[in-house]
Amino acid sequence: MLPKVRKAVFPAAGLGTRFLPATKAQPKEMLPLVDKPLIQYGVEEAIYSGIQNIIIVTGRGKTAIEDHFDVSFELEYLLESRGKKDLLATVRSVSDLINVSYIRQKEALGLGHAILRAQELVGNESFAAVLSDDVIDAETPCLRQLLDVHEFFRAPVLAVMEVPRENISAYGVVDAEPIAHKGGKDRLYRIRDMIEKPKPSDAPSNLAIIGRYVLTHEIFDCISSIEPGSGGEIQLTDALKKLLHSRPIYAYRFEGTRYDAGDKLGFLKATVEFALRRHDLGEAFREYLKSLHL
Ligand code: G1P
Repeated sequence: MLPKVRKAVFPAAGLGTRFLPATKAQPKEMLPLVDKPLIQYGVEEAIYSGIQNIIIVTGRGKTAIEDHFDVSFELEYLLESRGKKDLLATVRSVSDLINVSYIRQKEALGLGHAILRAQELVGNESFAAVLSDDVIDAETPCLRQLLDVHEFFRAPVLAVMEVPRENISAYGVVDAEPIAHKGGKDRLYRIRDMIEKPKPSDAPSNLAIIGRYVLTHEIFDCISSIEPGSGGEIQLTDALKKLLHSRPIYAYRFEGTRYDAGDKLGFLKATVEFALRRHDLGEAFREYLKSLHL
């Protein structure tokens, strides 16, 4: 039987320049959508997909992430002594969630470079990678959808979605051929080629890579052997393109809604929609929004 994917790598060493000054002294992964930090959405998605070992690749100034997933004795003591049982349970559920390891990426040299830092902790296994800027709301967690494909083909799988042509240069883009899977022919693709952040005129399709990957361990050698690419960074897309020479790679157009929380407008949209869906806030918030004269 194929061994289960047990580990998910979360690159979290970026400088978060798009959210300055909010990210001057706190990591962007800790910016809250309503009341939960961005990275926790991704971590919960990994857990709901059956993955319990989380590897976070951090950098300077990211200790808040480590504290967030750690036990906060003082806070728990305070909540307990004040009889705040619900809040205590919420706080405990964060530290009970997972088994987390941290590794440092000393310089932010790109996504590929960040993933390579996790090589020793991942070892010889297939693993997931999650970019927490991409928040995905889905009935079946997006990562679970990819893992199902991985378990079938035993190959790397990337999440993709169609994006408008004018936005294509913000993404890795795949050239891919649709293939039949589980009776349908509209979600699964076999990748022919891929390119990181192409000019619109060079983009081979409108299928953009979104921040969920299931990778096999050969990716580490590919990352080690490539030169810096787009933006002068070591790009994961370039390493995957190299891996394509030796094995098939699949793309899956996942079911669900993706929010680009790495962008201010995307972050605001996610905040509004997540708040509207909350039992404790939704109704009052909806009333408030309706009262605005827009
Ligand atoms: C990264 C990847 C890119 C992918 C994108 C998805 O880019 O390099 O291939 O399309 O995430 O969010 P970034 O947004 O970190 O520049």
